[in-house]
Parts: sequence; structure tokens; C-alpha cells
Amino acid sequence: MDLLYMVALMVVAVRAGEEQYHKKFPLGHTLEPNNKYDLLDYELANTELLMSFVVFRHGDRTPDEEELKKFPTDQNYDKIFFPYGKKALTNKGKQRGYLVGEYLRERYDNLISKLYLPDEISVRTTDFSRTKMTALTALSAIYPPPPAQKWNPFLNWQPVPYDTPAYDDDDLLYYYNCPRYLELRQQVYNLPEVQKKLKPYEGLFKFLTIKTGTDISVPEDVFYLDNLFQTLANIGVRAPKWANDVMPQIKEMTKIEYALEYHTSEMIRLASGVLLADALNATNAAIEGKWDQPKLRLYSAHENNVAGFMAAMKVFKPHQPKYGSTISLELRKRLLTGQYGFTATYAADGGGPGVVLPIAGCGGQAFCDYDTFVTLTQDHVISRSDHKKLCSTPIS
Ligand SMILES: *[C@@H]1O[C@H](CO)[C@@H](O)[C@H](O)[C@H]1NC(C)=O
Repeated sequence: MDLLYMVALMVVAVRAGEEQYHKKFPLGHTLEPNNKYDLLDYELANTELLMSFVVFRHGDRTPDEEELKKFPTDQNYDKIFFPYGKKALTNKGKQRGYLVGEYLRERYDNLISKLYLPDEISVRTTDFSRTKMTALTALSAIYPPPPAQKWNPFLNWQPVPYDTPAYDDDDLLYYYNCPRYLELRQQVYNLPEVQKKLKPYEGLFKFLTIKTGTDISVPEDVFYLDNLFQTLANIGVRAPKWANDVMPQIKEMTKIEYALEYHTSEMIRLASGVLLADALNATNAAIEGKWDQPKLRLYSAHENNVAGFMAAMKVFKPHQPKYGSTISLELRKRLLTGQYGFTATYAADGGGPGVVLPIAGCGGQAFCDYDTFVTLTQDHVISRSDHKKLCSTPIS
């Protein structure tokens, strides 16, 4: 190829990228990126999106048994939770799921067809009503039926299926079915440096123990209590005054809990290692030519799956992911060089906007070169069979 031709090609490619950028930000954005996040987005204008692995948290819900046990009252909760029941998606939660779907349709409109084509997408949920219902509401926004798939003229909806692994075999339910993970976390609680960090909160633990009449002694207890108050608020039950008085400290403790849940690479492996291994296996096969596999893979799951996946891809800053929060690991190709790589996009609020996060160790760039990403995250992957084995292996 002669040089002139190459240069001409590059100019065309850059123009194409700029066009994509303008399409994305039609108003109020100049070509010059004006903040850090725009800069990351701008960098992606010259890439092609090829595949995406998306984990989102279910929508707003009512409390579950474990949370209610943290603060027993003589309230008749069955009446209060009607018609949803316990640990169930509320109407607000369904709306949140729909927003997640609208966000995904917009973001991946060029990746998947408007028609529901079963080979293009895979959908997995955990074995909970709230994650299944969130998946259904999201899918209704992703796939409103085009004329060819409209089967009822009065309904702007078509059925789209999902898979749900058995509870005991589901690597996304490590929090419930991986005893070793919980043991490791207890170990982390007992580390001298963590004890030192918790010392200032001794008064808070005591106060909450007295007020609730239950044993509140580790960060997780406070986190459950925090969740209880959030979920009660979802159905219009206000937290007691004593709780509001110490709410800032409760929130601090929730953040500490989130920092401790991914304290070691073994914890990250147990939390999200199978998912990351699946993503690397699929993308690796694709790069080697196997493109006849789903391009969009959705996982309707829980807050600690969003956080865990973020930790695995090295973009996690301790916080509790909100209802509908969505993290995507995206395989991309540079238009100019043909180089493959990953980007991480996080919608902290259900429905977006999605913000591109720099992957730690990848030079602050949006696009992390494929091999570099694999090296950076090599301690975070685990096979399904090793995961199963390790989870049931006690530490001592
Ligand atoms: C790895 O990817 C290939 C190609 O998509 C697939 O056939 C295979 O089942 C995957 N292996 C695992 C362990 O997921």
C-alpha cells in the first residue's frame, strides 16, 4: 500500500470517529473534550464495539427476612408489604428495571438488532424473583416488538427468555453459597489494621445493639440494617429517629463493608472470577475468529455482583451499588490499528448515564489493550470447577 493511500485511509477513519462522536453528543459538546470523562469517551469514538458483558443490580425491593431480623418489631409486615411480599420488586423497582433496559437499548443499539434474534443475546439471572422480574422489565424495554414480531396488536411486548442456574451452583451467589468467601471476610474483619479502622465505631456498634435489641458487632450487621431502612423506605415506612441520628455513620460503615468485601485477590476471585473467566474465554474465542456467539450477555443480579465485577476489572471504588446500577465490560477494536481491548462503563444510577472508568494500571486510558488487561486481572480469574471446589474448602 502506498503511503498516500494509508494517510487517506487514516483521515477517513478519524473523520468516521468524529462523526460518531458528534452523533452521540449532538448539542452542547464541542469536539474538544472538556473534562476527564469526555476525554475517555472521545478516545472510544475511534473504536468499534464488538461484545459486552453487563451486570446490573435488580430494582427497588421490600426487605428480606435477614434484614428484618436485625430490627424485630411488632409491626405486621405482611400487611405492609402487600401486594409484593418480602424481598420483592416494587412498582418503582419495575420502573427501574425498565430504565436499565432503555439504557442498554440505547448503548447497544448498534450491537444488537431491533428484532429479538436469540443468537445475539444471552440473559442470565440469579434464582430470585426480584432479579428475574428486573430482567423481564429490562428486556421489555430492549425488545419492544418490531412489526415482524408483533403478536398482539394491543401489547407492545414480546416474550424474551432468560436462564437461571441452580442456586447451589450459581457462582454469582457466592455471598450465600460460598462458605469460604464468608470465612475469608471474617478473617479480614479480624486483621489488626481493620480492627484499628473499626475502633472509632465501637460506640456505634453498641448504640445499634441496644436500639435494635440484636447483636450488631461487625460491619455486615450495620450494612444489613442500612439495607433494612432503605427497603422499608421503598414502601413508605420511615426509619426511627435514632437511626436517622446516626445515619451518616451507618453509611460510612456500609462503605467500609464494601471495601472489605474485596480486600484480597482470593475474595475477588471467589466473588467474580468465574464471570471474568467466562468473559475472557468468549472474547478470546471471538478474536480468534469465533464470532457466532452472543454479542451481548446480560446478568441480572445483586449489588455485590456489580461491585465484585468492578473489583475484578479493577475499577471499583468502595461504595454500595444502587438499584439498577449497571457495569459493562466491553470488547472493542481500534479502527486505525485493528488492536483489541476492553473498556469499563458504569451507570451508577439505574438507567444511566454510563460513564467510562479507567482500568487501574492501564495508564488512565479508556481503552485497555487486550493482553495488558489479561495480565492485570490474571489473579482474578478462576474456572467454574475450581470455584466450586474452593468455595467448600474451609480455610483451616
Ligand atoms: C469458551 O468459549 C468457547 C467459544 O465460545 C465455548 O465453546 C466454550 O464452551 C467456553 N468454555 C467455557 C469454559 O466457558
